[in-house]
Amino acid sequence: MSITRRDFFGAGATAAASFALGRPAGVAPVTASPFWRVSRAGREAGRPAVIASANGLRGVAKALDLMQHGADPLDAAIAGVNIQELDPTDHSVGLGGLPNEEGVVQLDASCMHGPTRRAGAVGAIEDIATPSLVAKAVMDYTDHIFLVGAGAKQFALEMGFTPQDLLTPESRQMWLRWKANLNPNDNWLDHDDDVKGAYTHGTCNMNAVTASGDIGSVTTTSGTSWKLPGRVGDSPIIGAGQYNDNDVGAAGSTGRGEANIKICGAFFVVEQMRLGATPEEACLRALQRAVAMTEARLLDTRKHPRYDLTYYAIAKDGRYGSANMYEGAQFAIADAAGARLETCAYLFKRDDRPTGPVPAHALTH
Ligand code: GLY
Repeated sequence: MSITRRDFFGAGATAAASFALGRPAGVAPVTASPFWRVSRAGREAGRPAVIASANGLRGVAKALDLMQHGADPLDAAIAGVNIQELDPTDHSVGLGGLPNEEGVVQLDASCMHGPTRRAGAVGAIEDIATPSLVAKAVMDYTDHIFLVGAGAKQFALEMGFTPQDLLTPESRQMWLRWKANLNPNDNWLDHDDDVKGAYTHGTCNMNAVTASGDIGSVTTTSGTSWKLPGRVGDSPIIGAGQYNDNDVGAAGSTGRGEANIKICGAFFVVEQMRLGATPEEACLRALQRAVAMTEARLLDTRKHPRYDLTYYAIAKDGRYGSANMYEGAQFAIADAAGARLETCAYLFKRDDRPTGPVPAHALTH
């Protein structure tokens, strides 16, 4: 059942609401927007449980199954995102991920292992389809946390990863259409078809909790399509694209990385949970912080952001939640009730999306 915040708190039920949301007395509810929704109190999953971006639906099922058979939470989560990384039809990650403005696929990923409190990351790595596994190898085999560019690829080759062309015929066509339609006066023939509108900002984030409460988290992406070469987004930044604390929970993000980096979003969400917020409340608070930190050129006249951003969170006890900037988004969850998509809480109604020209670089899903 979904209820609006106005209904929920307007009926004089604040005290009962705090109790139902698992929020200790004294921890304020999210208040900046009248439009967010709480679909279930704390969305109580049992353990083990896995939450992910909606494109991780197959992945959460895989990760849950692995953990039910004793797998480590990070190994399980990475096996989950590997499905998307190796799927050429998912243009937001790995093989088939959309390239930068020069037609080169540059991938970002990071991971954290809760029980041992370790982390690994790679940024702008080329020719390796599974950057999540390279990030884990950085964590497992080096004294570093973050390798980028040519060094990251060299490391991956030394670790035995197989290089391959990550552009697929489809993603190459999408890039060529974008390139051709940039300028009506250049020497590329323009195309009047729906491919030219394809523009993605997708990512796959996955956060897993085992039956005993151990946590793993991972985020992988091809980043903003047509980005400047060398651009690194939020996904490989520990504390932005994903973060976990084995005593508290895990969180991650998809959407406009530039907005998330500025608020250290995944860290922020975990710290909000540490203070007593439910996973869903913590995600909503992060969105509010992101809006507050948004530069004027990316806000419309009502101060609504011209971009999208989503947070996903799971607490050590298995409660979970997700929130998107605008109404209508979904996330993937797997627990004893199976793998499914659920609806994200949100800050702004769908009808309140900014109208008029939107800068191409700000577009998201
Ligand atoms: N959140 C993915 C990116 O901005 O690269």
